[in-house]
Amino acid sequence: MRLLSLMMLFSSLIILSGCASNKIQMDIKKDTFGKAGNGRQVDIYTLTNANGIQVRITNYGAVVQSLIVPDRDGKYEDVVLGYDKLEDYLKDSPYFGAIVGRYGNRIAKGKFTLDGVEYTLATNNGANHLHGGLTGLDKVVWDAKPVKKENEVGVELTCLSKDGEEGYPGNLQSTVVYTLNNANELHIEYTSSTDKATPVNLTHHGYFNLSGNCKTDILSHEIWINADYFTPVDEGLIPTGELRSVKGTPMNLAIPAVIGAGINEDDRQLKYGLGYDHNWVLNDVDGTMKLQASLYEPVSGRMMEVYTVEPGLQFYSGNFLDGSNVGKSGKEYKHRYGLCLETQHYPDSPNKPEFPSTVLRPGETYHTKTIYKFTVK
Ligand code: BGC
Repeated sequence: MRLLSLMMLFSSLIILSGCASNKIQMDIKKDTFGKAGNGRQVDIYTLTNANGIQVRITNYGAVVQSLIVPDRDGKYEDVVLGYDKLEDYLKDSPYFGAIVGRYGNRIAKGKFTLDGVEYTLATNNGANHLHGGLTGLDKVVWDAKPVKKENEVGVELTCLSKDGEEGYPGNLQSTVVYTLNNANELHIEYTSSTDKATPVNLTHHGYFNLSGNCKTDILSHEIWINADYFTPVDEGLIPTGELRSVKGTPMNLAIPAVIGAGINEDDRQLKYGLGYDHNWVLNDVDGTMKLQASLYEPVSGRMMEVYTVEPGLQFYSGNFLDGSNVGKSGKEYKHRYGLCLETQHYPDSPNKPEFPSTVLRPGETYHTKTIYKFTVK
C-alpha cells in the first residue's frame, strides 16, 4: 500500500515538473483558407509566440486576419477587424488588415507626370486614385512561405505587379515579411524593385480596436502621434501641399489625447475627413526606426506602439464604417469601431514635388519597415 502511494506521489511529481517546463512554443501553422476568384488556393498562417500572442495572416491581400493579444489581466482577445471567411474578403472589404499599394493613400485625379510622361491610373475614390486602384495589392493572391528563426516566426509574401497594371509603369516586384517575436512585436518589412521608374508607397491597413473583440468604438482610445505638423486636405482628401502646425487644433495629438475629445470639434479639416482621416508629418525622421505613435485603451489596459522609418502616418478613425460590414463572429463593424495607423509617405506625393519623393527607379531598392508592439499599462 505504502509502495503504491509512493509510486503515485512520484508519478504526480513527474507530471507536475513536466507542466512547469511546458512553456508555449513559438509556432507556425499553415491551413487552407479557400479559393480566390481566379481559382487559386489561398492559405492562412497562424503564428504564435512564446507569450501566447497569435497572429493569423493570409496570402490573399497579405491580410492580417486576426491578432490576439492579452489585456492587463492576461485575457487574450482579438484587436483587429476582419472576416472569418475568405469569401467575405473577396466580396467587400474596406482593406481590412491588408497591404495596400502600389500607392497607399490618394493620388489626385489618378494622374501624375514622371520624367516628362503623364500616367493615368484607375480612379476608384470619386475622381481620385486610392490604395493602388481597382485591383490593388490588397486584392491579389501573394506567394507565401513560412519563416522560422530562433526568436521569431513569420511569413514572407511576394507578388509581381505587372507593367501597366492599374496604369502604373514598370514591373514591380514586392516582398513583405511579417514576423512576430517574443518581445510581442509584429514587424512588417517591405522591399520592392522595378524595371521602370514608378511611385511606390506600401502600407499596412489594419483596423485596430484595443477593447478586444471589438466591444466598444474607438472613441475612448488615447492616441499619441509624434508630429508638430500635418498635411491639410481639400474636400476630396487630397493634400493642399501645405504643412500646417497642429498647435491649437484638434490635430494636436503630440500630447496624448482621447480620440472622442476632439473628433467632433467644429473644424474644417475634421469636416472634410468626417473625423480624423489625415496624414501627420512625423517629427525626428532620419531613416532610422523611431517610436512615432501609440494607442492605449484604458479599460483593457492594452497599449500598442508604432515604430517606423516612414515620414508620415495616416490616422483614419473608421469614419466610413457603418455597420454594413459584418465581421468575425457576426460582429457589425459600426461607425468608428476600428482605426488605422498607416505608416507611409505623404498622400499625392507624385504631384507634390515639395513632399519627400516616392519614386523608385530601376537599380534601386525600396525598403521600409514598421513595428506594431503590444504591451499593457
Ligand atoms: C483612407 C480613408 C478611406 C479608407 C478606406 C483610409 O486609408 O484614409 O479615406 O476611406 O482608407 O477604407
